[in-house]
Amino acid sequence: MPIEIPVTRVQEPKARPRDAQLGFGQVFTDHMFLMDGAVDAGWSNPRIVPYGPLALEPATVALHYAQSVFEGLKAYRGQDDAVRLFRPDRNIARFNRSAARLCVPFIDPDLFLTALKRLVAVDRDWVPRTPGTSLYIRPVAFASDPDLHVQPSRTYRFFIILSPVAAYYSEGFRPLRIRVEDRYARSVRGGTGAAKTAGNYAGSLMAAEEAQQAGFAQVLWLDGLHQEYIEEVGSMNIAFVIGDELVTPPLTGTLLEGVTRDSVLQLARDQGMQVAERPVTIGEVLAAARNGTLREVFGTGTAAVISPVGELSYKGERVRVHDGEVGPLSQRLFDDLSDIQLGRRPDRHGWMVPIQD
Ligand code: COI
Repeated sequence: MPIEIPVTRVQEPKARPRDAQLGFGQVFTDHMFLMDGAVDAGWSNPRIVPYGPLALEPATVALHYAQSVFEGLKAYRGQDDAVRLFRPDRNIARFNRSAARLCVPFIDPDLFLTALKRLVAVDRDWVPRTPGTSLYIRPVAFASDPDLHVQPSRTYRFFIILSPVAAYYSEGFRPLRIRVEDRYARSVRGGTGAAKTAGNYAGSLMAAEEAQQAGFAQVLWLDGLHQEYIEEVGSMNIAFVIGDELVTPPLTGTLLEGVTRDSVLQLARDQGMQVAERPVTIGEVLAAARNGTLREVFGTGTAAVISPVGELSYKGERVRVHDGEVGPLSQRLFDDLSDIQLGRRPDRHGWMVPIQD
């Protein structure tokens, strides 16, 4: 049965920013997708309506106990002017894994994908066209019962909003300075580290603020138990080129299963690179820097795309990576990924999903 999603269009479309004015996540399109959920009745009333405020009771569960999950994915305008989503099936599957961890009801993947496609089709004129820009898509589900008991809500709201964006970091593609965090922890075994949930981000803010005051773009998290094993940056996964190997931490449940991470590992394998998903300690990275085998470091994420790291700082020791310049593998992977996303080279893995009008 076809999924019906009624559309209420805005009376007066907003003025759209020029591509050159875009930053990250501060401008939103004309429309949003909404639906309502209930534990005993599932999700209902899917609809596309003008973008605008949500009315919430002050006692709304999500505001108190952070029972909320989200995703981040992108639509790109190809050089043929067609608009395509990048690997939405991966984000939908991860959303439902996060939802299960946070006791949020499962969303049927067909309904989810239809909602994404219809909403992007309605606001397709907002998909920017300049290389380096895209339409960022933010689906969110949150607990909406007005109830102060600490228990899973019985009702939920789900929305999708769209934001035309350029680079996430103000540095753009220039290498970032990253502080390796040795005091705070993001996640521990058995926690919610693998879920994309609000509380993980709230808990990271203080460390990020302190790092920014000291001149760093972000922090690199170590494991919460030994503070030795590298995990992720919080807004992106991390990878190292040590000798001839591309190394990234394995998915052991404490870090996010990045869609860009997975794509980049595939592209690196396509290029004949040796790829290892294995535990990597900060000690190994520092030793590699000292003996000259640390060749590149870069982050991967939907928002961050591929973000080269030019400096790591750990307990006062500063390590320059590739002389603070963009390394050749980071550049090649960025080009390969962008070319696929913008339709400039064949989509050899079938990652792009077209939006029909
Ligand atoms: C993303 O890459 O989509 C993220 O969610 C990272 C951050 C903006 C929260």
